[in-house]
Amino acid sequence: MSFRIAPSILSADFARLGEEVRAVQAAGADLIHFDVMDNHYVPNLTVGPLVCEAIRPHVTIPIDVHLMVEPVDALIPMFAKAGANIITFHPEASRHVDRTLSLIREHGCKAGLVFNPATSLEYMDYVMGKLDIVLMMSVNPGFGGQSFIEAVLPKITAVKKKIDAHTAAGGQPIWLEVDGGVKVDNIRRVADAGADTFVAGSAVFGARDADGGYKTVFEKFRTALG
Ligand code: DX5
Ligand code: ZN
Repeated sequence: MSFRIAPSILSADFARLGEEVRAVQAAGADLIHFDVMDNHYVPNLTVGPLVCEAIRPHVTIPIDVHLMVEPVDALIPMFAKAGANIITFHPEASRHVDRTLSLIREHGCKAGLVFNPATSLEYMDYVMGKLDIVLMMSVNPGFGGQSFIEAVLPKITAVKKKIDAHTAAGGQPIWLEVDGGVKVDNIRRVADAGADTFVAGSAVFGARDADGGYKTVFEKFRTALG
């Protein structure tokens, strides 16, 4: 099983963002997780396509754009142009979920849905063929540094079952990413529940000044994953 680790830039030093993404790539990151918040869908405000475009030349790994915005569609061409490789959105923030997924793929990006801890998984059922990724939130979206919600573990397993049934029936592979409160001491349990891709914001960037810096955190994650 190959696992992917996606540091969330939300906890990076924004004054040195280019250096920060280069440093986590060098330390072993597989993706850069890029959190977009609009002070409407979530009560916080972060960054948009301009900042995505600014970091693009600094890394060669994919940029994984997590849209916490409402409405969604107008931003998709802009993020695709800014160098996004994966775009995920919250289905309840889009009027036409199937159309939004198609729009992302038409712009050459991998497409995915994001589920909050209490969002119904039924949103997946009729769009499985258009999903490249499912992002399961293990905190309520809006802020970095929150605690992992344990009740999400069985929900990750429920998503995994739907994905496995889809691929067993000949469907395309779908990544299962988990976002929020992922740390060295719980990543193994998150993987056991069925995740293959792990977002980690504060756990990675919080190690900025620790011995060994970011490299040590990635080593600890890989050791925990086995
Ligand atoms: C929360 C964001 C997460 C967050 C993760 O709304 O989507 O990506 O930055 O940060 P940690 O790992 O600190 O919970
Ligand atoms: Zn995120």
